Amino acid sequence: MEVYTDIYKFRKVIKQLKYQNRSIALVPTMGNIHRAHFELIRNGRKHADIVIVSIFVNPMQFERTDDFKNYPRTLEDDLKKLNSEKVNLVFTPTLHTIYPSGIDKHTFVKVPGISDILEGALRPGHFLGVTTVVNKLFNIVQPDIACFGQKDFQQLAIIQKMTTDLSMDIRIISIPTVREANGLAISSRNCLLTETQTQCAPVLANTMRWIATLIRNGRNDYHSIIKNANTKLQANGLKPTEIFICDATTFQTITKQTTKAVILMSAFLGRIRLIDNQIVNLLN
Ligand code: PAF
Repeated sequence: MEVYTDIYKFRKVIKQLKYQNRSIALVPTMGNIHRAHFELIRNGRKHADIVIVSIFVNPMQFERTDDFKNYPRTLEDDLKKLNSEKVNLVFTPTLHTIYPSGIDKHTFVKVPGISDILEGALRPGHFLGVTTVVNKLFNIVQPDIACFGQKDFQQLAIIQKMTTDLSMDIRIISIPTVREANGLAISSRNCLLTETQTQCAPVLANTMRWIATLIRNGRNDYHSIIKNANTKLQANGLKPTEIFICDATTFQTITKQTTKAVILMSAFLGRIRLIDNQIVNLLN
């Protein structure tokens, strides 16, 4: 496995791979590699000759400086894990490589509409940071496919729209959420939870499954379902920030035409914000 921080050297390797007609899968990450990343890597390998993982904690997508500062950075350990997963190349750019003129003066890429609603309304500027950096990584790596987890459901939809809108010749592969045995969605931030918080965390996924069952059973009084779910979460020490039940394709209110709904949830446990989502197929 080769690790590149220098963009010029890295680009030379990419050029060579392109010249050799090798297909490339990109797995963009912010590091703190865990089991869910392994799934992305393994799927990348299924679809391409070369798997490249990027590790960059992107300040543009954090709206809280303490969250950015505290984001787990475990590069040495990450490289060992990626090496054992037989990743071909790792790209670990510096802040200056990605934002040479600083974040504020940088050109950005914004997907309209969908970036400003739901999670985007709670975290203004977050998706703009995501699409800008993913765009840059796509331009640098020039992958044939790129793998993203369904845990960040809205992010995935935004990236899909961005690639379509900007006519990028990149196939976006979406990978189902990887969970602990207790249902908790695996995430880099989980390692920041205390022991007690780790015990409370699965309540988020449990509550989501409870909502999904109600909806599947025909309940459509979403306001009261959300109210009860909020109470459940609070009773277990979580501070819910969002529970949205909407059309999984349009991200708008569920209508008679909706065939797939999505439950999007997030909650704070202490200073750590957990997110999760579940698709519910509706019988019309
Ligand atoms: O999902 C993530 O880890 C990040 O949002 C991504 C896609 C690597 C962009 O920084």
